[in-house]
Amino acid sequence: MSPNNLGFGLGLRPVHYPEIFDGEPRIDWFEAISENYMVPGGRPLHALMRLRERWPVVLHGVSLSIGSTDPLDWDYLERLKALAEKVEPAWISDHLCWTGVGGLNIHDLLPLPYTEETLEHVVGRIEQVQERLGRRILIENVSSYVTFTQSTVPEWEFLAEVSRRADCHLLLDVNNIYVSAFNHEFEPLAYLDGIPAERVRQIHLAGHEHNDTHIIDTHDHPVVDPVWSLYAEAIRRLGPIATMIERDDRIPPLAELVDELDRARAVAAEALNSRRAA
Ligand SMILES: [Fe+2]
Repeated sequence: MSPNNLGFGLGLRPVHYPEIFDGEPRIDWFEAISENYMVPGGRPLHALMRLRERWPVVLHGVSLSIGSTDPLDWDYLERLKALAEKVEPAWISDHLCWTGVGGLNIHDLLPLPYTEETLEHVVGRIEQVQERLGRRILIENVSSYVTFTQSTVPEWEFLAEVSRRADCHLLLDVNNIYVSAFNHEFEPLAYLDGIPAERVRQIHLAGHEHNDTHIIDTHDHPVVDPVWSLYAEAIRRLGPIATMIERDDRIPPLAELVDELDRARAVAAEALNSRRAA
């Protein structure tokens, strides 16, 4: 595998440790939630380091709050950097969102107004983070349930411009595109068409909860057929990209997720064939 395409991975969930360590699961790499491993010397970090002996690992954060107007949390970045020095992840990612203001973290990934002012704010902060970590980071599109009347450009244009101006990479969550496209009535293929392929390093797939009038991004179901189709379109446009499945609730046995990952391999292989043919 090239360093830019790790293949097909899973979000690391401790409930799967016995199946991971005792078997030879068809999993190419794992994504670990950074914040769960930031206590030095703890058992979670010990398990992660054991896993790291056999698999590539990427770190995925939920606390960077890159869009917030609070100052950047330098203590958090220090701990993230120390973790990265230990784990040597293939890359580090977080979300295009804010998670609180006034020192409060509400642990929700909230969307931003897509304006020039926000763009300058976010780009400046990503540059500072990359400088501190000594590496480029990946920024992920979140799912959302509200939009801002102040927004002047669609989300995909904003995300693309962030990646160019901050010289960062992208983590494209295909399920989030599908969820937000339904909730805000935009065309998901327009989103894909607006993403600069050379910036994308990783793809997330996940399941959600459909409530007729709106979709909630619950990560507690298998990936649905329309998201598989959108994933195929993404691979057709972007080429081979490291792909993984996120499951955060109603977590099934590892074998079920490995089967779902096999479907991702098959969908990607077919999409790459049709990309070559085109
Ligand atoms: Fe995601």
